[in-house]
Amino acid sequence: DYDVLIIGSGAAGLSLALRLPPETRIAVVSKRELAEGNTLYAQGGISAVLDEADSTESHIQDTLRAGADLCDEEVVKLVVENGPQNIRWLLNQGVEFTQQPQTGSSGYHLTREGGHSHRRVIHAADATGRVVELSLEDRARQQSNITLLEHHIAIDLICTPRDKGKQARRCYGAYLLDLKKDRVKSIGAHSVVLATGGSNKVYLYTSNPDVATGDGIAMGWRAGCRIANMEFIQFHPTCLYHPNAKSFLVTEAVRGEGGILVLPDGKRFMDAYDERGELAPRDIVARAIDNEMKLHGLDCVYLDISHRDADFIRAHFPTIYAKCMELGIDITREPIPVVPAAHYTCGGIWTDRKARTDIEGLYAVGETAYTGLHGANRMASNSLLECLVFSELAAEDIAGKLQQAENALPPLPHWDESRVTDSDEAVVVAHNWDELRRFMWDYVGIVRRNKRLARARRRINLLQHEIREYYSNFRVTNDLLELRNLADVAELIILSAMRRRESRGLHFNRDYPWQDENQRQPTILIPDNYVASDINRK
Ligand code: FAD
Ligand code: SIN
Repeated sequence: DYDVLIIGSGAAGLSLALRLPPETRIAVVSKRELAEGNTLYAQGGISAVLDEADSTESHIQDTLRAGADLCDEEVVKLVVENGPQNIRWLLNQGVEFTQQPQTGSSGYHLTREGGHSHRRVIHAADATGRVVELSLEDRARQQSNITLLEHHIAIDLICTPRDKGKQARRCYGAYLLDLKKDRVKSIGAHSVVLATGGSNKVYLYTSNPDVATGDGIAMGWRAGCRIANMEFIQFHPTCLYHPNAKSFLVTEAVRGEGGILVLPDGKRFMDAYDERGELAPRDIVARAIDNEMKLHGLDCVYLDISHRDADFIRAHFPTIYAKCMELGIDITREPIPVVPAAHYTCGGIWTDRKARTDIEGLYAVGETAYTGLHGANRMASNSLLECLVFSELAAEDIAGKLQQAENALPPLPHWDESRVTDSDEAVVVAHNWDELRRFMWDYVGIVRRNKRLARARRRINLLQHEIREYYSNFRVTNDLLELRNLADVAELIILSAMRRRESRGLHFNRDYPWQDENQRQPTILIPDNYVASDINRK
């Protein structure tokens, strides 16, 4: 048993672990090596008001505008106001950001990205996530109160039964599959945190690494948490298009530093879509690219920064420069082939302003949570900021509760494998993975239609039926668990998209191409096992 069980070791999970009092007994679970996850691949940076010429109000207004009137204003204010202090915390953890003492008052080079009306994105060249993640990992490995359980995948949460009158349900642990020993363990804790990241592997083309299978959202839903705004999947406009490049992003900061989007003949097109051109929010740029590709029958468009000084390009974008060189593209001389791909899950497990979910003792932080910050479209570089701010708020709440906690946890149930056998048909899992990701891309992508959503719903119901049968007959494996979670999350995305009968932010439905004031509210899905007494803590 632990005081706190944190499932996930990205920016959200690790910063929460490091912010709890040092006497807290913490387990951090990661289904691969500790550093693997979306955080490791973050490029552009972290937004915060760090320059005298900028203002908190301006960051708030930009976030609200990008979010297409669907952000929770109080949450936006809370996050933006806590930004600078969280950057200082990262500096204290040893994170080294790119400096530029001669310009601005912060001493750091601040870049620009879509939707931001000021330079306010602090970064470590084009590998901000790597620098942040490895610094936090280093700190976590030095702390004796933190047990790191790598190569363990959480299967489901352990909660008190739902039929105990109307009293709140309580989470007190999780089942984990030890992937090296192939054994399921029950782990107990007074507080459990879901910090499992996003779910963008539900789409065929994505900027995300393989671990982004929405496990936390699916586990939270199955346990009885409300899930909000899952229709708002962000497609990043510029992922590298090359047969040998899997999930490689070309940061928006390239456009922030002057990169332009062009057709194969070199003609610029973004000015025809939005006055902010290449720096319009992502929903607008991704849709514009999608439209141009369909209009001209193209496989990709091009991002050109070659007009900037070659030394500047190599210094600011060393990762992208090296990756493209490896594929034979010299970005100091020629444009980069790019396409949109699924990038960020704006919705997730509904949480209050202390990261608490509907279930007592269960928290959700980072990309897995819906806090209200992003509304219908997340503004660039607000995600790492949200991870930091909410992990601090969660740590404060958890630390306060631990002081009052009773020592004994209820007995942990054992994992029952008495009625299952080893699967002899792993090919079914691989096939279903493939089918799911393909129809989600085709039917629930950047531009949606009622008919396609209905088709996707029929497909997902069939797949879920097959997966459930498979799950109850065979021993669990990593691939089966991830497929089960992807299917649950796909269903949540489809249901949410069907509910929203308008187009807003990232959700564009050709059958309802207008924005409707009467629908200016989050889409909240309520599971069958939801206990209403927990409602409305915000
Ligand atoms: P992650 O960092 O994804 O961590 C999730 C963790 O959970 C991993 O350790 C994973 O192994 C673990 N996990 C998942 N499921 C289980 C399970 N069942 N059992 C055990 N462990 C599990 N945002 C910005 O603000 N600025 C940027 O510049 C930026 N650039 C980006 C570039 C790329 C290529 C990508 C993909 C995203 C980018 N984002 C950026 C978004 C941002 O990186 C993520 O939203 C953020 O890092 C999420 O952090 P997290 O801690 O919530 O999740
Ligand atoms: C990028 O660098 O373009 C990604 C930034 C983000 O997702 O916030």
